[in-house]
Amino acid sequence: MKVAGLDLGNDSIKLVLDGGGEPLLVPNVVAPGFERHILQEEDQPLKALDVIVHSPKLAKNGERSFVGLLAMENEDNTELEDMDNKALSDQSLIVALTALAYAGVATGSASQSGYQGYDEVEYVLGTGLPVRAFSRYNRSFEERLVGEHEVTFLTTPRLRNRKVKVIVRRAIVSIEGAAAVFHMATHDSLQIRDEELYHGTIGVCEIGALTTDFPLIKRMNIDNQFSTGEQIGLAHYMDMIIREVEDQYGYRFPSRSKLAQRIKAREFTIRRMGEGQTDIKPIVDMYFTRAANRMVELIKKRWKKVPDIQCFYVIGGGAAALKPYLQAAAGSLKLRFADESELLNVYGYYKLAKSKTAVQKA
Ligand SMILES: Nc1ncnc2c1ncn2[C@@H]1O[C@H](COP(=O)(O)OP(=O)(O)OP(=O)(O)O)[C@@H](O)[C@H]1O
Ligand SMILES: [Mg+2]
Repeated sequence: MKVAGLDLGNDSIKLVLDGGGEPLLVPNVVAPGFERHILQEEDQPLKALDVIVHSPKLAKNGERSFVGLLAMENEDNTELEDMDNKALSDQSLIVALTALAYAGVATGSASQSGYQGYDEVEYVLGTGLPVRAFSRYNRSFEERLVGEHEVTFLTTPRLRNRKVKVIVRRAIVSIEGAAAVFHMATHDSLQIRDEELYHGTIGVCEIGALTTDFPLIKRMNIDNQFSTGEQIGLAHYMDMIIREVEDQYGYRFPSRSKLAQRIKAREFTIRRMGEGQTDIKPIVDMYFTRAANRMVELIKKRWKKVPDIQCFYVIGGGAAALKPYLQAAAGSLKLRFADESELLNVYGYYKLAKSKTAVQKA
């Protein structure tokens, strides 16, 4: 049985497994699958996740889907919108199960179930929900994950026609942003690494794609009264950039993920038909400045409400994207940033799952 941290992000699903190794990131994009014409097989399974997922928890059980990178360029792809709830979303579950199945076989954690011809992998999952969704949905989220699911890879290179049974024994649901602080405050052995974080009153602004969470952490406990969240994230601004680029230059990004990928790689030039080239950095700057101003306003408001806060961490993928803009907007207000900002939650979920399972064994 594997312990894993699973962050069901609206932008991307992150997964870390027992035994170290790089975290796995799969863009949370899905498109309806079909028989593809393959001229040249992709060089990695992750570039062509083509699956059928069976799960009693899915409303549309057993449909073929393209997942992640393969769906990103597809015209019929779907990304999550403001109204989607990750605790109940079929799409997020499909991407998550695909990632869990892939990681199971890729790391050799799956066992061959002999003549039945499928692989089987069992997990205890640490995962999480936004502050505002947690109290209402943590039970239903747990129930959706726990159980037996089945993922069949179709045209995925190296995994053609492999069937993987994914069994989730337990899911331990914690809170976005708070888990990130737990990760920063502790070593892998779960010993205290940072006294100030561990014992202090810590403000957090965790900027995701569709939500921004403001848990307030006191001595590693989540404050019920002052923790809160906003239904806005970087995706809102990404969508405005996509629209603006389309209006100005007639160039349409096939998905939000595609734009995010470009921004991460700092590739701001788009090519238009013929030999036209355009730098879209000014458009990105404009909307990212707006996003940063808004976030800093929210941070100031929270800090004023709770003056006990010793330091304020701005984390999540949104913080990585907006860092220079946030610093400019913050002026003399001191904000703290962290490396690998978008992975802090998933590491935290993993550690929390680890500590829960360790306690029960003892
Ligand atoms: N290193 C980075 N540089 C630039 N942008 C990034 C970086 N990492 C993530 N992003 C972007 O920041 C946004 C938030 O990313 P993040 O991974 O935190 O979202 P998520 O966890 O999937 O979403 P949510 O928390 O709403 O479920 C996304 O639009 C993502 O593309
Ligand atoms: Mg997130």
